[in-house]
Amino acid sequence: MSYLAKNYNRKNISFKYGKGSFLYSTNGKKYLDFVQGIAVNSLGHSHPKLVKAVNKQSKKLWHVSNAFQIPEGEILAKKLAKKTFADFVMFQNSGAEATEAAIKAARRYFYTIGQPKKNRILCVKNSFHGRTLAAIYASGSKKMTEGFGPKITGFDHFEFGDHKSLNKKITKNTAAIMVETIMGEGGIKVIPDWCLRELRKICNKKNILLILDEVQCGIGRSGDFFAFEKSKVKPDIVPIAKGIGGGFPIGAVLMNKKVASGMTAGTHGSTFGGNPLAMAVGNSVMDIISDKKFLNNIKSNSKYFLSNLNDIKDKYPKVIKEIRGRGFLIGIQLNTDQIKFIKRLMDNKLLTIRAAENVVRVLPPLNVKKSEIDQALKIIKKVCSEVN
Ligand SMILES: Cc1ncc(COP(=O)(O)O)c(C=O)c1O
Repeated sequence: MSYLAKNYNRKNISFKYGKGSFLYSTNGKKYLDFVQGIAVNSLGHSHPKLVKAVNKQSKKLWHVSNAFQIPEGEILAKKLAKKTFADFVMFQNSGAEATEAAIKAARRYFYTIGQPKKNRILCVKNSFHGRTLAAIYASGSKKMTEGFGPKITGFDHFEFGDHKSLNKKITKNTAAIMVETIMGEGGIKVIPDWCLRELRKICNKKNILLILDEVQCGIGRSGDFFAFEKSKVKPDIVPIAKGIGGGFPIGAVLMNKKVASGMTAGTHGSTFGGNPLAMAVGNSVMDIISDKKFLNNIKSNSKYFLSNLNDIKDKYPKVIKEIRGRGFLIGIQLNTDQIKFIKRLMDNKLLTIRAAENVVRVLPPLNVKKSEIDQALKIIKKVCSEVN
């Protein structure tokens, strides 16, 4: 009998420990982990530098209130600002909190400049911004909001890729457009660079803020530190989480100066957000991932992975419909049953996870070895030949 609530559909397996790209189950099996906590363990399991950072900090100071100075957070905020568009950073504990804080920052900005009615957020229908009340209504998903009414208002939606409907949905009350640069849960759908540039132009023309949710696709996952960088677009607000903590719960909102001007003392807060222990880990992750050589390595290794996956798709068109994604945020869209395919991969000791649109998500750690990619490719090919 489990006393855990039943809000997850858990597989009947648990793990004793993890090392790099591998997980070791309690029943003595070794799995190639290409889930990595759903793009969370950006540097794999028990990375020595992160273990050292946790151990060192845990002996000094775990937690102090944000009522006091937190030098470790100052350092991480500075690193994030120096590396990105951001002028200011507000630390949280998770992705949903980061997207909520992003919404608050957008609304608060217009409030402080005397336009309080400019408060609506325009989002993609069936996107994913987390599971808090505001975030589920931002996602515009019937399934996620069912039974959780009354509806949180203030969100409008357009269909992914439908520019006409996007333009139609913008009103004088639109404060921000919020999109995932690469839709993760929604089936690994990449917003093309020209589209991001178009979005920026629309936002500039209509005096709207651009929020790019990089909770899943950010912090190196796409091969760039942020997935939007390639487009040269500068967003106003970017919520992050997952990868920045490498497994430790950290969220943050990155903002430009204009937006941050609204978030004055007392407007937002978090008891745990940005505590010394979290920040010590975040600093270590940041030092490794923000390195240009490390990012270039993600680019070349993911190119190799994606090109080989496309070869498998060409060999098994009855099984694979499309290979999606960028960097190590990869989706295999199937023509066959997704759940059975994932189960077969798991039987062959490769862990992957589902996404919408019959997509199998493949999320290796960013420092995955080429030999481990080859091992995954071999398993994927084998399963394709079996279900073909
Ligand atoms: C794009 C995006 N935003 C927000 C979230 C919510 O993050 P969390 O589960 O940490 O609240 C997720 C989680 O998958 C996500 O993929």
